[in-house]
Amino acid sequence: MASTCPTGFDINHLRTQVLATYDRVACEPLGEFHFHRGADYAADYLGYDRGELAALPNVSTARFAGVGNPHRIGPIHPGETVLDHACGAGMDLLLAARRVGPGGRAIGVDMTPAMCLCAAAAARQAGLSDIVSIRNGYYEDLPVDTGSVDVVISNGVVNLAPDKARVFEEIYRVLKPGGRLYLADVVVQRELTLDARSNPDLWAACIGGALPEPELYDIASTAGFCEARVSDRYDCFRNTSVEGKVAADLRVSAINFFARKQS
Ligand SMILES: C[S@@+](CC[C@H](N)C(=O)[O-])C[C@H]1O[C@@H](n2cnc3c(N)ncnc32)[C@H](O)[C@@H]1O
Repeated sequence: MASTCPTGFDINHLRTQVLATYDRVACEPLGEFHFHRGADYAADYLGYDRGELAALPNVSTARFAGVGNPHRIGPIHPGETVLDHACGAGMDLLLAARRVGPGGRAIGVDMTPAMCLCAAAAARQAGLSDIVSIRNGYYEDLPVDTGSVDVVISNGVVNLAPDKARVFEEIYRVLKPGGRLYLADVVVQRELTLDARSNPDLWAACIGGALPEPELYDIASTAGFCEARVSDRYDCFRNTSVEGKVAADLRVSAINFFARKQS
């Protein structure tokens, strides 16, 4: 099963590699990476509203490294509490903060300290510090109260988790009954080879840990989610060096995925 990493896989090494990759994205967003970043990519490939992104601080949009668009999955209402469970520099989080407004909350969690600093700076620059809180932590053990969140958004991050079942359990725990998951993530057409799944570089590039789509449904359902469905698909690695690194028949792409916690 692709949902767990190969036997003998060094999870601490993987975490170090992932952290180093996203620390570099935070420090050098214009550097060389296997994946796209930034507002133009978000608008051109993923359908974000260019005007909305232009109104956000560059410190956030320049470091965007998502793979889909959780905001197209469903609404976020005024007054709601939203969690972005690996928020990076906070682009999706700030869009959510604008939607929940002064009566709501937008919480961002990320394990990379430099990303947390960027997200906090962006919230200040956007005048959203009263609504937004940024917490340094892991999505396997979220620093968020049980049953406190209306919507969890997730963009390009579950594929990075060695234990995806644990990540879904945590999302389920923090959601209120009836709460919604708006998840964008990388999927593959067939399971990756053991070699590919054992390659930390490929994991950090959001491919080594990507699931075949049916497994995503299985994990969500095992965690207790209902109403699971895929809404949009994205060719998020088009024109990157990844195209030459994995077999074409893997058809690496991204999906928008909705699921709901039982009421
Ligand atoms: C591909 S980036 C996406 C960031 C953000 N969602 C966006 O769309 O720009 C992956 C993010 O996941 C974070 N991350 C990876 N593993 C994590 C973990 N176990 N707990 C919390 N954050 C994690 C990284 O620090 C990085 O910021």
